[in-house]
Amino acid sequence: MKLAVIVGTVRANRQSLKEAQWVLKAANAMDGVETTLIDLADYPLPFFSEPISPRNNPERKIEPAVQKWLDAISGHDAYVFITPEYNHSIPGVLKNAIDYLTTELARKPSTVVSHGTVGGARATMHLKEILSESRSVVIPYQVAFIGMSEGLDDEGNLKPELAANPYGPNAALKTALDELKWYSDALAAARNK
Ligand SMILES: Cc1cc2nc3c(=O)[nH]c(=O)nc-3n(C[C@H](O)[C@H](O)[C@H](O)COP(=O)(O)O)c2cc1C
Repeated sequence: MKLAVIVGTVRANRQSLKEAQWVLKAANAMDGVETTLIDLADYPLPFFSEPISPRNNPERKIEPAVQKWLDAISGHDAYVFITPEYNHSIPGVLKNAIDYLTTELARKPSTVVSHGTVGGARATMHLKEILSESRSVVIPYQVAFIGMSEGLDDEGNLKPELAANPYGPNAALKTALDELKWYSDALAAARNK
């Protein structure tokens, strides 16, 4: 499974980066998984203003900055989106980046790892709908991490007291990644038929 972990915020001092590091460590420990970090901060995009929906525009003219983002997101088998909750939804920068996509996520599985006062659960519910409309196969497992900024150190290591909990964040993440791999293998085989 070629897995892309997408960091959905760009602000200075953002917490989402360390949640992404936590996910990358867990994914890198799995057999048959190759990971790439895609940080939206490396893909500055203008506000979407194309004259026609890109999915319905055979004449689409793609700006170099947009092409760089599309190239980054293509070529993976599965996706983990890291999002906090901004005003009970996903950050605008993440929604804007997704609005540029056409078939990059099609028939490929994705999940969400979120954080916030209620674990980012409301943002996750929005993002799952957005990803589904973006043609991704959104799996029925995700991670909503309450207390993430205190629970992880700056390198994305879980605090020992949380790591010791068999029902804690590591267990939820393992389930989500194992399921993502299952769907990824199944869908890759189907796409290759
Ligand atoms: C504009 C803005 C809106 C926010 N709205 C919410 C919210 O609705 N619910 C919540 O739990 N946290 C909210 N927060 C707190 C963020 O979830 C928290 O700051 C988180 O660390 C943001 O992710 P980031 O550090 O990667 O930017 C908000 C933060 C910002 C900056």
